[in-house]
Amino acid sequence: MQKLLVSLGERSYTIQVGSGLLAELGRLCSELALGSTAAIVTNPTVGKLYTATVRDTLEKAGYTIHLIEIPDGEVHKNSQTLNSIYDALLAAGLSRDSFLVALGGGVVGDMTGFAAATFLRGVPFVQVPTTLLAQVDSSVGGKTGINHPLGKNLIGAFYQPSLVLIDTATLTTLPEREYVSGLAEVLKYGVVCDRDFFTFIAENTERIRDRDKECLQDIIRISCALKASVVERDEREGGYRAVLNYGHTFAHAVERLTHYTDFLHGEAVAIGMVQAAKLSELMGYADRRDTKAIVDLLQSFGLPVDLVPFSRDEYFQALLKDKKKRAQGINFVFNKGIGDSIIENVSDWDFLLQVVSK
Ligand code: NAD
Ligand code: GLY
Repeated sequence: MQKLLVSLGERSYTIQVGSGLLAELGRLCSELALGSTAAIVTNPTVGKLYTATVRDTLEKAGYTIHLIEIPDGEVHKNSQTLNSIYDALLAAGLSRDSFLVALGGGVVGDMTGFAAATFLRGVPFVQVPTTLLAQVDSSVGGKTGINHPLGKNLIGAFYQPSLVLIDTATLTTLPEREYVSGLAEVLKYGVVCDRDFFTFIAENTERIRDRDKECLQDIIRISCALKASVVERDEREGGYRAVLNYGHTFAHAVERLTHYTDFLHGEAVAIGMVQAAKLSELMGYADRRDTKAIVDLLQSFGLPVDLVPFSRDEYFQALLKDKKKRAQGINFVFNKGIGDSIIENVSDWDFLLQVVSK
């Protein structure tokens, strides 16, 4: 088991990474003295696979358990599902002496975190992420929330978990497309903040594709450590944390234009990373070899790299709707070579749109 600390003063917590760790959850929660009752929030897909183990370890540690199942899928990441979590917590009579366990991917994690932030004005919660994306990104850093009909993640709170428990063995059941999609976010860390990590990924593509146990632990541990260091520096995204949004400006535009149906998030991020790399090259922050290295690596994982053919005007409208846009333009993340990045406000739309060919 490998242990990392996210150092945020009284909101500090550990991330534990290892294979077969689910069975350790009860002991770890006891060590944190998290209360006497736990509600496990999961969905039927993940629940069928892992609820029994999680329930068992918590019961053995002496906890009273309530199980809350929410429907699977991003379309259910909304106020209706959130209300159903509150209803279940209240029906079970949970008090402030209780905590929530988010067992699942980023959808379950974001919603459970927000329920924990708001139920009885805040109860602790534990992240048990089971997708690669959730293990390397969404479970760490305290962004929680739900979607609104007007946009994704528009309602939420910064609320840190008390523990992140990453059992890498859960990835053995993850569908291939979901796994590969998560790799885009892994690669993102290498591009924006760690050249050595980028090189490590490039030198181990086959092992990564094969979900080699040891390699998986390495890429997850390093990704979490990099994310933790960014969050420690800028917990509430006053500025620097936005480097984690590398590639996301065009990713969000692609997702919006394709009505969130054609691409998984990581796939859209892969496309967006290529556009960010091209624009970085045009700015003189990176050169052609850097862009080629990024494109080659994304392609070697089977991720898409080409911008979906919509018109410049359609992209312009989609970019304008991004919640991260500022009145004076967009805060855009450029890579400086490989392993470093810079955030700049871009108000020159023609500059941004020159990667759009139509
Ligand atoms: P997801 O939660 O929808 O999970 C993808 C699919 O995999 C689901 O059908 C799920 O049931 C299934 N699944 C999960 N674990 C499994 C396993 N081990 N075996 C088999 N199937 C499994 O999607 P995701 O990619 O994990 O998360 C996407 C969400 O994360 C989005 O809502 C996004 O906004 C959010 N997100 C949040 C942050 C943050 O910082 N909070 C960062 C990135 C993304
Ligand atoms: N996934 C981006 C962030 O946590 O800030």
